[in-house]
Amino acid sequence: MDTVLSGIRSTGNLHLGNYFGAVKNFVRMQHENRCFFFVADYHSLTTHPKPENLQNNIRTVLSEYLAAGLDPEVATLYVQSDVPEIPELYLLLNMNAYVGELERTTTFKEKIRKQPENINAGLLTYPVLMCADIIIHNADKVPVGKDQEQNLEMARKFARRFNHMYGVEYFTMPEPYNFGQELIKVPGLDGTGKMGKSEGNGIYLADEPKVIRKKVMRAVTDEGPKVPNSPMTEPVANLFYLLELLSTPDVVEHFRAQYNGCTIRYGDLKKQLAEDMISFTSPIRDRILEIYNDDEYLRKVVRMGAEKARESASKTVRDVREILGYRSF
Ligand code: TYM
Repeated sequence: MDTVLSGIRSTGNLHLGNYFGAVKNFVRMQHENRCFFFVADYHSLTTHPKPENLQNNIRTVLSEYLAAGLDPEVATLYVQSDVPEIPELYLLLNMNAYVGELERTTTFKEKIRKQPENINAGLLTYPVLMCADIIIHNADKVPVGKDQEQNLEMARKFARRFNHMYGVEYFTMPEPYNFGQELIKVPGLDGTGKMGKSEGNGIYLADEPKVIRKKVMRAVTDEGPKVPNSPMTEPVANLFYLLELLSTPDVVEHFRAQYNGCTIRYGDLKKQLAEDMISFTSPIRDRILEIYNDDEYLRKVVRMGAEKARESASKTVRDVREILGYRSF
């Protein structure tokens, strides 16, 4: 049985990228494996959320996980900050992570470019915290999107280094995972790049139908193919990518044939895409609203999750302390 683990930062609502990149895969694996799924609320501190928003952000992400199909009775579903063993392991791992390698990570370099006014040490050591998240339960498989590939590579590097430095075979090497295929990058509606929380180009699981229609109808396209079987420009290829995720194969085939025959009207494709997105998100959205307001249920879920997560995490931290040489008098 594999140990499967994944997490999502509590910085906003879940979008289709989070769903198809991570949550869907996790949901499909939860019954056959030892599974951990958590709300990465320490990671969200790098962007300095207002204290009055922090708790709501956690509640939002938690409700959306549950609404998307995570079963807290079978998987261990917890909030990162409820497990103090994680920051302890993070501290210990930080001693063997080198500033040079952290500075070279793509995500860190991107942050420097995007938010030069807030390059905090938490951003630099983000991959170390992520490594602690993962190896604290000795996870083998980590369902994530393509954007997390480098963070996973760093996690393996730190785990391998620990084993090597102390001459042990303690930590497993965690692999990024997608159920039966390559890691994916769900595109946004702005023509280029991935769907993201900070990019403002996403469809959220909690979006109302009219919002989805509006966003999709505004999606970037091009002037249309001029000759049969032309290669697609990025914005159009992205719309087809989304169509493949959300529509039936015959719908995709229908629009592909129209594209190849130069008869396509992007407006029709967008209408269809919006309706298929709505059919997909509507039942999830209804559940989100129900769960979000159910204090008692949420309290029960996090209490149960924290207990199970701490049981596994405290064993790891005890072992690591022992390996490092912390012994009782
Ligand atoms: P975050 O919160 O940015 O994203 C959560 C998950 O959603 C995936 N994802 C996507 N997948 C495909 N296409 C997209 N457009 C897309 N956008 C987001 C991400 O790959 C991720 O799997 N550092 C992580 C959170 C984290 C974590 C962990 C994940 C903290 N510790 C340990 C796994 C294991 C993050 O910021 O993800």
